Amino acid sequence: MRSSRSLSGVKLGTYYVVHMPEPDDFDFWRERARGLIQCDVPPDRIAWVEPGGSGDLFAHGKRRMPVPPKDAPPVRANRRFVSLARNAALHSDPERFALLYRLLWRLQANPRIMEDKADLDVRKLEELDKSVRRDSHKMHAFVRFRLVEDADENGEGAEHYVAWFEPDHHILRANAGFFMRRFSNMRWSILTPRGSLHWDGETMAEGPPADRSDAPSGDPTEDLWRSYYASIFNPARLKIGAMLKEMPKKYWKNMPEAALIPELVAGAQKRESAMVEKGTLEFEERPETLAAIDKAIHACRKCPIGQLDNHAVMGEGPQDAALMIVGEQPGDQEDQQGRPFVGPAGQLLDAHLEKVGIDRRAAYVTNTVKHFKYVQRGKRRIHQSPGAKEIDTCRWWIESERAIVQPKLILAMGASAARGMLGKTVSITKVRGEPIALEDGSELWVTAHPSYLLRLDGPAREEQARLFDADLAAVKERLEELAG
Ligand code: URA
Repeated sequence: MRSSRSLSGVKLGTYYVVHMPEPDDFDFWRERARGLIQCDVPPDRIAWVEPGGSGDLFAHGKRRMPVPPKDAPPVRANRRFVSLARNAALHSDPERFALLYRLLWRLQANPRIMEDKADLDVRKLEELDKSVRRDSHKMHAFVRFRLVEDADENGEGAEHYVAWFEPDHHILRANAGFFMRRFSNMRWSILTPRGSLHWDGETMAEGPPADRSDAPSGDPTEDLWRSYYASIFNPARLKIGAMLKEMPKKYWKNMPEAALIPELVAGAQKRESAMVEKGTLEFEERPETLAAIDKAIHACRKCPIGQLDNHAVMGEGPQDAALMIVGEQPGDQEDQQGRPFVGPAGQLLDAHLEKVGIDRRAAYVTNTVKHFKYVQRGKRRIHQSPGAKEIDTCRWWIESERAIVQPKLILAMGASAARGMLGKTVSITKVRGEPIALEDGSELWVTAHPSYLLRLDGPAREEQARLFDADLAAVKERLEELAG
């Protein structure tokens, strides 16, 4: 039982006001809450004020926190409470911090309170947690980036993708890591009325709240998303109620593909019978032969790149090759000829392989992404790097090739190829020149992409060519060891 006078000598009539520096700062709340509990300050003597909230109502309250006595017992909180509280702290309910404190206070006397499903505070905490998780889920699913700066004539330059999203709760910062991992090699901003996030490929910055009008409302890539969505929309699975639950109308205005929904729903029945007649291909089982992969990639529309006017390009080389060489994606020439590495980057690769004495014909040469991604500029098709999501989607095929060829050593050229092999983005400079052990017992070696060399000239090109040769020579030596 708590005494009529607090342990620290704080008078029970004293009122405290805690000004939260940020609406989602759980760690700050936790630190203040611990101190207040150790000073025996009951829940009804504390006002938790959010940024922008009115502190005037509590003008008589103390802002300076009491100092816990040295011998104050540690504050008890079980894991379940902490994990729910961490999420609930992101809710927009202004009473959330008071609720968390009340529960933490009650936990000191009754450590099993979290098990009481009928307890109103526990139920409220669970409700807040659930609604925050749902909001995060919606954010993951419905953020749509729009291109606002484009590459120049040479495919160089800064592309910047901007998305507008209206979260119900203070979930933006907590989800920064998700978007950073998912779109690690894109430059993007997510703008919301509660704040903004900006990722430049290396660092994350936070910005002020934004307005809907700060974000673009459409760009050419949206047509791509629309046709992609139309192609994956499966009328046989259409359940309107479930769809509205998963994709509430409130999010539709920010999603290019949502413009299609009424039309798709209306046409669903017709499309369904057409699909039944034609039969649809789904690639859920791993193909067992290279020929089957070849056939399947030509039908693959799992990402928007496959919707462009292009052809899938299959890997080539002996099925029992000890070396697998992996590039990023076919270029313009490869797309036209249907073979990997036959354009300018391929010619440069061939020259370097020959220089160090690797026989390309003995290697299995392939790409991480099977279709050519480009934007049309007049008559030219300008290369676009695949996004992380596209690489990750296409991994299914390169993994299938690997399972059949079973190379001893894989040489991944460039960041996209490295991601295709590892499932995460790595820095080429950090990992090149050393083997990385893969789960199946093979080795991954990472180097630069030959088209990177093509973009350089002068001493920079010479230096990179030297490093490239050194990587290839190390691969050759290692192959000899593995063969011996
Ligand atoms: N660049 C690649 O990554 N792969 C090719 O096949 C051609 C160019």
